[in-house]
Amino acid sequence: MNEMWTPDSWRQRTARQLPTYPDAAALAQAERQLAGWPALIFAGEADALRTRLAAVARGEAFLLQGGDCAESFEDLGADTVRDTFRVILQMAVVLTYGAACPVVKLGRIAGQFAKPRSSDVETVDGTALPSYRGDIVNGAEFTAAARTPDPQRLIRAYSHSASVLNLLRALAQGGFADLHQVHRWTADFVRDSPQGERFEALAGRIADCLAFMEACGFDAARTPQLHAVEFYTSHEALHLHYEQALVRRDEASGRWYGGSAHLLWLGERTREVEGAHVEFLRGLHNPIGIKVGPTATPSDLQRLLDRVDPDRVPGRVVLISRMGAGKLPNRLPALVRSLREAQRDVVWCCDPMHGNTVSSANGYKTRDFAAIVTEVRDFFAVHAAEGSHAGGLHFEMTGQDVTECRGGAQGLTDASLEERYRSACDPRLNGSQSLELAFMAAEMLKAGRKA
Ligand code: PEP
Ligand code: CO
Repeated sequence: MNEMWTPDSWRQRTARQLPTYPDAAALAQAERQLAGWPALIFAGEADALRTRLAAVARGEAFLLQGGDCAESFEDLGADTVRDTFRVILQMAVVLTYGAACPVVKLGRIAGQFAKPRSSDVETVDGTALPSYRGDIVNGAEFTAAARTPDPQRLIRAYSHSASVLNLLRALAQGGFADLHQVHRWTADFVRDSPQGERFEALAGRIADCLAFMEACGFDAARTPQLHAVEFYTSHEALHLHYEQALVRRDEASGRWYGGSAHLLWLGERTREVEGAHVEFLRGLHNPIGIKVGPTATPSDLQRLLDRVDPDRVPGRVVLISRMGAGKLPNRLPALVRSLREAQRDVVWCCDPMHGNTVSSANGYKTRDFAAIVTEVRDFFAVHAAEGSHAGGLHFEMTGQDVTECRGGAQGLTDASLEERYRSACDPRLNGSQSLELAFMAAEMLKAGRKA
């Protein structure tokens, strides 16, 4: 690691997408407070995730990353968190069973509060106010008071993250994720849908397998993998004041770790090599993600990887392509090829959401299920053609019965969007659409692994 790195060396660089706080002293006070509190995750956990991701990069496992576009302070009740968690579990089981492949489970959760925006201001009826930048910065309501960046929100983001993470740890380890409970993971609104029925049939086969193995003398009680899951957290490392305040030095190794989540990612708008966000992340030992949009060139990527992963640490980097259906077949192959030639073994993950955002006729930001499926299908096809591993999928999803993305087996239309559009930012797949996609992806993964 370049010795010039320090947790605050990013402050010498241009930092895009950060809010301007009217009260700098109040911001500094909030940062000091956070710096004195415990990290939310620990070095050993981040290292374990890196080991899992190294297996994904070798084609021995698959990454499933999902959750809200933006979490909101108001919507972090136990039911919401549990519902997201169980849909991720369901998707993971569908992929594990369908493709006989271990799945690394990574939530966009317990800290996904900061949002990049295309404009610093939003103008409504001639009034201009700062854009909403996520609950860690300001409020969504269109009033001057709500939109003024408030440093106390950093403290709230920390405490919300801590309580969500506590619940996730309990759900993952405390019995809910036990494979014997697989029937309990289906939400009522999904149960009677075609996906729900398909999942129940799969759950039945899993229960039969377990019963058979146990009848043969297999001691399920002594097999921890059946009773608990490893579940990791991630979010975009956008708010650098917050992220810096949670950096900790691991005493045993002397290495620096981001303490706010297991994996932190660089967004499409903040990945320039000389910028503050890249500077910050390069010094942390956590695994990191990098969003890769349609304008990224092979040389951009090479320079970026040389900067954030000079030692080519296995499992260190997840490249999250977000090209847009239609663009992916033209853009991705050259990137994959150039990294292969440079002998860079990264995890390639597909975000089929952020390149496929459109406006509906009735004024909603939405995404078409068909476009999402097309991008995923093309992602698998490109990796099959290039001889590389389609390593994972990245979704904006929720366990709730929302109507934010069009299409899917439920046949959601523009008119449906008016019914239950609840996202604080981008449109998410609902529980039923998520499961539908998981069944399709399992087929693609299975075919790819056979080949
Ligand atoms: C996101 O993941 O919510 C996001 C803003 O993505 P991107 O940086 O790829 O636009
Ligand atoms: Co988003």
